[in-house]
Amino acid sequence: MADVRIEGLGKSYGGRAVLSALSLDLNDGECFTLLGPSGCGKTVLLRLVAGFEIPDSGTVSIGGEAVANAATGVMVPPDKRGLGVVFQDYAVWPHMNVFDNVSYPLKLARTDTTSLQERTARAVELVGLRGLEARLPSQLSGGQQQRVALARALVSEPRLLLLDEPLNNLDANLREEMRFEIKALQRKLGITIFYVTHDQEIALSIADRLAVMDENGVLRQIGAPEEVYEHPGDPFVFRFLGIANFLPVRRDGDALYIGGSSAAWVGPHPNRPGGKLSAGFRPSDVLLARDGDGLPGTVRRASFLGAQVDYLIDIAGTLIRAALPSHECLARNLLFVEGDSCRVGLATVQWFEGDTGGGMAT
Ligand SMILES: Nc1ncnc2c1ncn2[C@@H]1O[C@H](COP(=O)(O)OP(=O)(O)OP(=O)(O)O)[C@@H](O)[C@H]1O
Ligand SMILES: [Mg+2]
Repeated sequence: MADVRIEGLGKSYGGRAVLSALSLDLNDGECFTLLGPSGCGKTVLLRLVAGFEIPDSGTVSIGGEAVANAATGVMVPPDKRGLGVVFQDYAVWPHMNVFDNVSYPLKLARTDTTSLQERTARAVELVGLRGLEARLPSQLSGGQQQRVALARALVSEPRLLLLDEPLNNLDANLREEMRFEIKALQRKLGITIFYVTHDQEIALSIADRLAVMDENGVLRQIGAPEEVYEHPGDPFVFRFLGIANFLPVRRDGDALYIGGSSAAWVGPHPNRPGGKLSAGFRPSDVLLARDGDGLPGTVRRASFLGAQVDYLIDIAGTLIRAALPSHECLARNLLFVEGDSCRVGLATVQWFEGDTGGGMAT
């Protein structure tokens, strides 16, 4: 069993708290991703779980065993925690070939030769590097080096795999391929994966559950990817999971208006009271027309991106992004150019209280 329980965890550096009273549970066998902006404390958290850092307060247990407890001083060293780790700078040793790199943890643990050879061969096979055992890292592609790091983390047959942005240095195609492979590995081995990243696409695509952390190291929301994506708890989470549009909406009696303008709101209605509201929606939620009864807008920029057309649209002084499939634009005469007026409809809206600052998040 490798469920992870983190309770009341705190860590400061030089009097500055990075994490305070953080609690989080990972279930046995799940792939859990932690998503948050750069500098929010993801690596610090992973290092605390791994045992490379000592918590100021709180506890960490893995598989029911307390591995760190600030109050009692319990601190199980990293190599006794049953973990595999791939950190941000996944450094493989340049002077060692693939076999030696992967088998290194077993060598350190003084594993007997037969077992070392068997287990290394298995780990190499698992990440698809069979036949390349004698190569040096300099003779491998970035993705292959990445797999060496992964095989090295897996060779001790850990119950928990900690991954810290392990795909950062790869190009887009390889990154996509590797994330499917990590997911496949998790299923095959049944291990628990704790994956931290600031890349929302990776987080959404491989997670069974994910948590979103804000810049202060506070967990804003935890849930299944589709749950968090479809029902973000607050504007921060909504912004962080993709390109986000916000339109300020003002309630006046029964009528709704856009921001400070006299433009009447047309579209899905909030079922909550309140003066100031913010309508949040994704570029793909925008429906465009040349005329009709949508919100009146002006196209400020039109970019043809192949599969889709990306528009920047001004609605009563607020800029929003819209993304329409190219085939739809062609079929429905919706290839706008800069300066065109248009009508904007919304397929779905997330309502937030108050003013979120309006406009686009990214
Ligand atoms: N050893 C340390 N000494 C002092 N400050 C540290 C130390 N380690 C981390 N920090 C600080 O803690 C904060 C969180 O750092 P952390 O590396 O966890 O961020 P992160 O979320 O992993 O960011 P990124 O996405 O860029 O990797 C940062 O402000 C960082 O400067
Ligand atoms: Mg980091």
